[in-house]
Amino acid sequence: MQKFKLAVIGLGGIAENFHIPAWLANEEIELTAICDLSEEKALQVAAKYNVPQIYTDYNELLDSAEIDIIDICTPNFLHAEIATAALKKDKHVFCEKPEAVTIENILKLKETVEQTDRLFMAMRNNRFLNPSLFLKKLSDQGELGEVYAVRCGWVRRRGIPGRGGWFTNKKLSGGGVLIDLGVHMIDLAYWLMGSPTPTTVTGSTYSKFAENTARPDSSNSKFGVKDAAGVFDVEDTARGYVRFASGASLSLEFSWAANIEKERKFIEIMGTKAGAYWNYPDREIKLFSERNGITAQEIPNINFQDGAGRQENIKHFVDCLLGRTQLSYNIDQGIDVIKIINGIYQSAVKGTEVRF
Ligand SMILES: NC(=O)c1ccc[n+]([C@@H]2O[C@H](COP(=O)([O-])OP(=O)(O)OC[C@H]3O[C@@H](n4cnc5c(N)ncnc54)[C@H](O)[C@@H]3O)[C@@H](O)[C@H]2O)c1
Repeated sequence: MQKFKLAVIGLGGIAENFHIPAWLANEEIELTAICDLSEEKALQVAAKYNVPQIYTDYNELLDSAEIDIIDICTPNFLHAEIATAALKKDKHVFCEKPEAVTIENILKLKETVEQTDRLFMAMRNNRFLNPSLFLKKLSDQGELGEVYAVRCGWVRRRGIPGRGGWFTNKKLSGGGVLIDLGVHMIDLAYWLMGSPTPTTVTGSTYSKFAENTARPDSSNSKFGVKDAAGVFDVEDTARGYVRFASGASLSLEFSWAANIEKERKFIEIMGTKAGAYWNYPDREIKLFSERNGITAQEIPNINFQDGAGRQENIKHFVDCLLGRTQLSYNIDQGIDVIKIINGIYQSAVKGTEVRF
């Protein structure tokens, strides 16, 4: 059987608890090397998963001719730099979101992606979940009609990851909740809408909870390492409005912390034939339409597969390496999402709409 030699760079919460087990669930993958700035962390993960080679410098790792796939799980500001270097060394690359923190860096990455025959994909948590696949089919088959207005978001009551660590340091993260949670829901909405071209964005950002000390109450806020003496110079709330060339629009709401009733992660789609609403904690998709002059509501029976989104991404990437299917992701889609996010940051500073 063909085996691919994998190296994982950045061994924090997402790598150790999600990526590595997901890769090892595929018998075609051999975890050959790992790399972290912290040798102690690398030794601990090597012992846990029986990994033969450890590195503390990713450039040394990339010089290893043995490695076929690089998986990037470092803080955000390093993603594009490591991905570009790895593709240039003829490695296939799977990268955590966001692909880059600036447009300039994702455009450089695109150039490299287009010059190589290696695969590049970024994590897209929501695309491979059964409810997402169900909605995508409805949308692609025209069963929603023209999808013209979509709203999505992820708002937490208290759920700031790694306060004072890299997550809340703009230089290292590229931003706060919008670049952290925003990528997941903006990508879902944008993908379900058929990857339309964004033309304008407007938005506001707020940082009101930098000093807040209430205990986190979101099960998803455990990522990142806190630093009591660290920096908090990013937004904890972002609101945005995107127009697309098709005429469709997307409204966005994201908070790591806010005085609301409870955490919500949602998407609402308005189509001319039918609409859909999915609020994760409720675990149900609701479809809304009109039948014989009467408004109708449907709740399809979908298996929600808790936590499977990341694992399915990695399985999809392995299937693509083996030629079993085509990548569901392309770098232009990544560019549009980064454009929207950075456009909202610019608009929030300028107080006006940003045109692309
Ligand atoms: N898809 C998801 O659901 C999801 C969830 C959480 C985090 N993430 C993403 O995963 C990435 C990592 O997040 P995390 O929560 O694991 O962070 P983390 O802080 O727990 O881990 C980051 C690790 O990278 C290491 N590192 C830093 N610089 C490095 C370098 N130059 N070379 C090698 N290693 C280096 C750090 O020492 C640390 O061990 C982020 O980009 C984040 O956005 C995605």
